[in-house]
Amino acid sequence: MKKVMVLGGSNSKTSINKKLAIYAASHLKNATIQIVDLNDFELPLFGVDLEISNGIPLEAYNFNELLKEVDGFIISLAEHNGSYTVAFKNLLDWVSRINVKVWKDKPMLLLSTSPGSRGAQSVLNIAKARFPFMGAKIINTFSLPSFYDNFNNHKITDEFLNDDLIELVIQFDNTL
Ligand SMILES: Cc1cc2nc3c(=O)[nH]c(=O)nc-3n(C[C@H](O)[C@H](O)[C@H](O)COP(=O)(O)O)c2cc1C
Repeated sequence: MKKVMVLGGSNSKTSINKKLAIYAASHLKNATIQIVDLNDFELPLFGVDLEISNGIPLEAYNFNELLKEVDGFIISLAEHNGSYTVAFKNLLDWVSRINVKVWKDKPMLLLSTSPGSRGAQSVLNIAKARFPFMGAKIINTFSLPSFYDNFNNHKITDEFLNDDLIELVIQFDNTL
């Protein structure tokens, strides 16, 4: 059985992106899931001086080991001021110092959501452009707009958006 990492790109304990990623993963047929929380990886703020003096922290290596163990990723990115959250970017920067091919040529379903009507599309587009240079095989992307209007009781309530997401999950599942 294949294994998929499920990650919200946020350190919020109530992350709506984590909820969306978990919901998407619930439609996988060919894989078990491993839900990963950014809060489990306590990392200092990345800086080149710190890297020179202290090296790359063990937590970054631990996260990198998880990336090696799985067969693909479902990631939903939270958007802060049009870009990655600090917590996600910090982890990404540390892990990229181990190997810039962070995503290890594995398939990825890339999602985003926010309370706003653009559904965090800015950060989604940034990642869509950048992650392939970091070893991601992006199979599909999906943005859920207006999270609190379209998601309730652990699922997407809008029928069309729900059908769209499920179709994309099935396509991703078939690449594993
Ligand atoms: C500092 C900050 C900046 C934000 N900037 C944006 C933004 O640029 N676009 C957006 O759609 N939402 C923005 N939001 C709202 C977030 O989308 C919202 O907090 C969302 O819940 C974050 O996702 P999460 O729950 O997975 O952490 C911002 C929130 C914070 C705290």
